[in-house]
Amino acid sequence: MSKHPHEFRTSLLEENDGPGHNPTANPTMGEIIATRFSRRALLKGSLAVSAIAATVSPIALITADNARAEGGSAFTFAEVEAGIDENHHVAEGYDADVLLRWGDAVLADAPEFDPKNQTAEAQAKQFGYNNDYVGFIPIDGSATHGLLVVNHEYTNEHLMFPGIVTIAEGKVKVADADQKRVDIEMAAHGGTIVEIRKVDGKWQVVRDGKLNRRITAATEMELTGPVAGHDRVKTNADQTGTRVIGTVNNCAGGVTPWGTYIMAEENFHGYFIGELPAGHAEAANYERLGIPEGAYSWGQFYDRYDISKEPNEPNRFGWIVEVDVEDPTSAPKKRTALGRFKHEGAESIVAKDGRVVFYLGDDERFDYVYKFVTAGTYNPSDRAANMTLLDEGTLFVARFSEDGSFEWMPLVHGQGPLTAENGFDSQADVLIETRRAADLLGATKMDRPEDVQPNGVNGKVYVMLTNNTKRKDEQVDAANPRAKNAFGHIIELAEEGGDFTAAKGKWEVLLKCGDPAVAEVGATFSTGTSPNGWFGMPDNCAVDAAGRLWVSTDGNSPKATGRTDGLWAVDTEGAARATSKLFFRVPVGAELCGPLFTSDDETAFVAVQHPGDGGEDWEKFGRPSYYEDLSTRWPDFKDDMPVRPAVVAITRKGGGKIAV
Ligand code: FEO
Ligand code: CA
Ligand code: CA
Ligand code: CA
Repeated sequence: MSKHPHEFRTSLLEENDGPGHNPTANPTMGEIIATRFSRRALLKGSLAVSAIAATVSPIALITADNARAEGGSAFTFAEVEAGIDENHHVAEGYDADVLLRWGDAVLADAPEFDPKNQTAEAQAKQFGYNNDYVGFIPIDGSATHGLLVVNHEYTNEHLMFPGIVTIAEGKVKVADADQKRVDIEMAAHGGTIVEIRKVDGKWQVVRDGKLNRRITAATEMELTGPVAGHDRVKTNADQTGTRVIGTVNNCAGGVTPWGTYIMAEENFHGYFIGELPAGHAEAANYERLGIPEGAYSWGQFYDRYDISKEPNEPNRFGWIVEVDVEDPTSAPKKRTALGRFKHEGAESIVAKDGRVVFYLGDDERFDYVYKFVTAGTYNPSDRAANMTLLDEGTLFVARFSEDGSFEWMPLVHGQGPLTAENGFDSQADVLIETRRAADLLGATKMDRPEDVQPNGVNGKVYVMLTNNTKRKDEQVDAANPRAKNAFGHIIELAEEGGDFTAAKGKWEVLLKCGDPAVAEVGATFSTGTSPNGWFGMPDNCAVDAAGRLWVSTDGNSPKATGRTDGLWAVDTEGAARATSKLFFRVPVGAELCGPLFTSDDETAFVAVQHPGDGGEDWEKFGRPSYYEDLSTRWPDFKDDMPVRPAVVAITRKGGGKIAV
């Protein structure tokens, strides 16, 4: 039995209300005092005036305000109006074309999508549910022909399946799953690799692409690196400790410089049920990760998801998965050297000396930012030589100091507290319990690290911190400056000497998010930001070829911010720094994932995830949304077709770069 009703799945898995969190509501006064104010905010917020007057001198306030941009955005597109409706909206002069929807054929022999008669076999050949990460791997260096790689993070049964919802006391109640439904859910997870081509300015799927592939929660994978073969990853079904069935909750990811596809395993705790045998050695390990969470009932049908039957199975999840897209029969590799936690993504960059640096976020309240530096160097002319780079290297966790510096602390067995005395007998133990190792090193507890994106043009690294309403006044620090942080913030890192392998560097807050017109929020968008341009809850981001930052969000809603999620262009340089403009917004109920720019900057791919979820908070709809009664039927708008998560390709009408 699930511990939680399914209607809470989205919030449970994404907000990660895991162990160690204090649910006590925080007072708001501390948040006000800890926040920098703009003069505009002061004028509009009388509450803030009285709070701030007692703590900050007027001169300090004016100085802070003068530091803001008075000018507008460096982006010239006509901004989209923020709002909420059934459809997506893109800036005038652009096309936003739906490229791939849930159920569309990925393999040549996939049957036509028939949502009322879906089968696992069909789903395993079709585009999966809840597209999240989007990557593009060029074929022969082309910006108009390549492999699109897309993660399918999780499933929303109430939107996917007919006849399983009843409404009880105004809430969606989902019928218990049978095995047929579980098998479809598993096939709708994972990832898609599909050949695409731009023809006459429009992207098309190559239906018979020979590298097209679906990866699912039933795909056989290998464990590699220091943990492979360790006793703690052996199960009844796999005495070698090297062969795992499936990957789950693949949130963001990455494409490596050598052209492989990275799928990050994020909220894997949600897939396990059962209880560990009494006194089991993994109890503390699992508690730190919130295992088992029991949002899915797969464990009723597959022993591996029931920890009373396979107590070691959760140690085989929570990894970074690397896929060789050039061999559709290859087993994806779970690269254990990059640590085990709720991996948001793994964006990478080649450092000056040829080593490759992967930036990693552990998306849970009060968890950490990491990076992994390969031991070997990238060889641009020998793809095969790069294929084991992720098995050897050093994992680091970040500590942010009040003086604007940070350091990367190595998670290496035998160093510092990472010894047998503390229960770490080997590097495998350090990696299996990455969080506990980082705890002992004194890493800085962050407000839910999401995408961490290196920018090869300006040498900076952007850290999306989506929110953390559980942070209390006494837990505020310089890098997490707001208590009850409902709207999140973005930190900018500068590695020492511009070297991405550096052991330390400087950081500053690029942006505190939320509505800058509400003083109590303490948002720091520039005064050049229009009422459409601000956002909350940064999640994914992209840097285009010109080095400009684009941020997509997860959590803007009628209730939270009076607007849907979307894609915002954010200035990071010069007078316009911290100016933001809305470029694209999603239909009601959705969040926006992806974003990705092709190397010619002429296409932005975005992933519209869980459209039509919710509905109660949207005045126009005002009730729960589910298969038979949907708040939107995006993108088809046909009575016999449910709402469908989809990847959208944005191009400029008539061609040319997205932003000039
Ligand atoms: Fe799946 Fe951290 O978002
Ligand atoms: Ca995310
Ligand atoms: Ca990204
Ligand atoms: Ca998300």
